[in-house]
Amino acid sequence: MRILIQNGTVVTASGSFQADVAVEGEMITQIGQDICPNGYDKVVDATGKLVLPGAIDAHTHLAMPFGGTVSSDGYFAGTRAAACGGTTTVFDFVLQDFQESMVDAIKRRDAMCAPEAAVDYSFHVAVKDVSNGLLDTIEDAVAYGVPSFKVFMVYDFGVTDGVFYQVLNKAKEVGALIEVHAENNEIINTLTAQFLAEGKTDAWYHYLSRPEFVEAEADARAIAWAKATGAPLYIVHLANKDGVAAVTRAKDEGYPIYAETCPQYLEFTNDVYKLEDARNYVCSPPMKGEESRKALWNAIRRGDIDTIATDHCPFQSYEKDWGKDDFTKIPNGCAGIENMYPYMLSAANQGDITFEQAVALCATNPAKIFGCPKKGAIAVGMDADIVIYDPEKDFIVTNDKMHSDCDHTIWEGYKMHGYPVQTYSRGRLVYEDGEFLGEPGWGKFVKCKLQ
Ligand code: URP
Ligand code: ZN
Ligand code: ZN
Repeated sequence: MRILIQNGTVVTASGSFQADVAVEGEMITQIGQDICPNGYDKVVDATGKLVLPGAIDAHTHLAMPFGGTVSSDGYFAGTRAAACGGTTTVFDFVLQDFQESMVDAIKRRDAMCAPEAAVDYSFHVAVKDVSNGLLDTIEDAVAYGVPSFKVFMVYDFGVTDGVFYQVLNKAKEVGALIEVHAENNEIINTLTAQFLAEGKTDAWYHYLSRPEFVEAEADARAIAWAKATGAPLYIVHLANKDGVAAVTRAKDEGYPIYAETCPQYLEFTNDVYKLEDARNYVCSPPMKGEESRKALWNAIRRGDIDTIATDHCPFQSYEKDWGKDDFTKIPNGCAGIENMYPYMLSAANQGDITFEQAVALCATNPAKIFGCPKKGAIAVGMDADIVIYDPEKDFIVTNDKMHSDCDHTIWEGYKMHGYPVQTYSRGRLVYEDGEFLGEPGWGKFVKCKLQ
C-alpha cells in the first residue's frame, strides 16, 4: 500500500514544517514539498492538520496480576485503546516469577501478547528474583532485545535494597537501564497500620500513607545508588516536587538520570481523594498537592522530565469497591492509555507547552531512551507510525467513547481542544474518527537496543 499524506504540518521534536509525507508499505519513504500523487493507493488531505509520530507509552500494565485480581485491559483491549489515542507502541511490564530467567519471563508474556496486540509492543522486566544465577540472565535479556528492567521499592513483590544494588551494578556492567518505582515501603506500612488501627479507612488515607516525602525520600535514595554505581536510572511516574528537584540536581551534575511522569499527576491533585468516587483515583504513587503538580509542569518546560507515560493499570468499579471500607483493599491503578497523547497535545494546543515538546515527551524521547531507532519520529526510513491531529476538533472524554474494557475513566468529562483523527501503525490505518480499525495480532514485538 502506498499512501501520500498531503499538505499537513509535520511536527518533530526539533521543529515543524509544511510537507507531504509518503508511505510505502510499513515505512516513511519520502518527505517533501508537492510530492506527485500519481501512483499512490490513497491520498490523505491533511490541510490544517498536524502530522505527528505515533506516541510511545513506555509504562503499561496490561493483564497484570495485581491487587488480588488482574488489570482489566488485556493486550488486545489495551492496545486497541492505545491506537485510538494515537499511541502506536506500548512497553508493558513483565513481572518475573521467582526462579524464572528474564528471557523466559519475556517469552511467557510475549506468547500472550503476540496474538492480541493491535499496535507494536515491547517489554520491560520487573525484577523479583536474582538468586541462583538469575542476576546474570539480565545480560541474556539485553541480547534478546529487552534492555530495560524495573525494580519496585514497594508492594509485596518489591525488592530489597541489596537486590536493587546488585541490579544497578549488573546494569552498569552489561549496558542495561534500570527503572524504579520509588516510594518508602517501611513508612507506608507503618502509616497504613496506624491509620487502620485508628479506623481511618477511606481513600484520603491512601494519600496520607504515601505523602510527598515518602516518594521524595525514595527518589533521593535511588538516585544516590545510581550515582554510586554509575548506572543510568529512569524514575517512573515521578509525582512529587522534592523528587523533581533531586532529578534536576542530578541532571545538572551530569548523571544519566531520566524522569517520567503521567498525565494524572499533571492534571489532578490529592483533592481527588476527597471525592465520592475517590477509590477510582487510587494509584501509587498517589496524586500529590498543587505545588507538586506545578513543579512537574515546570520541570517539563525546563526539559527535566524526559517522558510522559500512562502507568495504565485499570480495574473495574466492582474491584475498586473492594476498598470502600478499607483503602488498602482498593486495587492500585487507573486507565489512561487512550488519553495520554490527546492530553499532552491539547496542553500544547492551549500553549502550555509546544507541540514539539509534546512530541519529544510522548514519542521521540522514549524511543531514544529505550532504544527503538525506527520509532518516535516522522523521518524517512522510520516506521510509518503516524497520527493525524486536528487542532480544531473538540472532544469531551466519556467512557462510552473510550476503547478500553474498563467501565469507568478518571478522565470522564475532560474537555480537549484538538484531537487525533487518524492513527497509522506501520502504514496501516488502525483508527479513524472515533472508530478502531485494527485487528488483534497486527502489533509486532519491537526488540530494543540502548545507544
Ligand atoms: O497504582 C499503580 N501505579 N499501579 C500499577 C503498578 C505500579 O505501581 O506501577
Ligand atoms: Zn509503579
Ligand atoms: Zn506502573
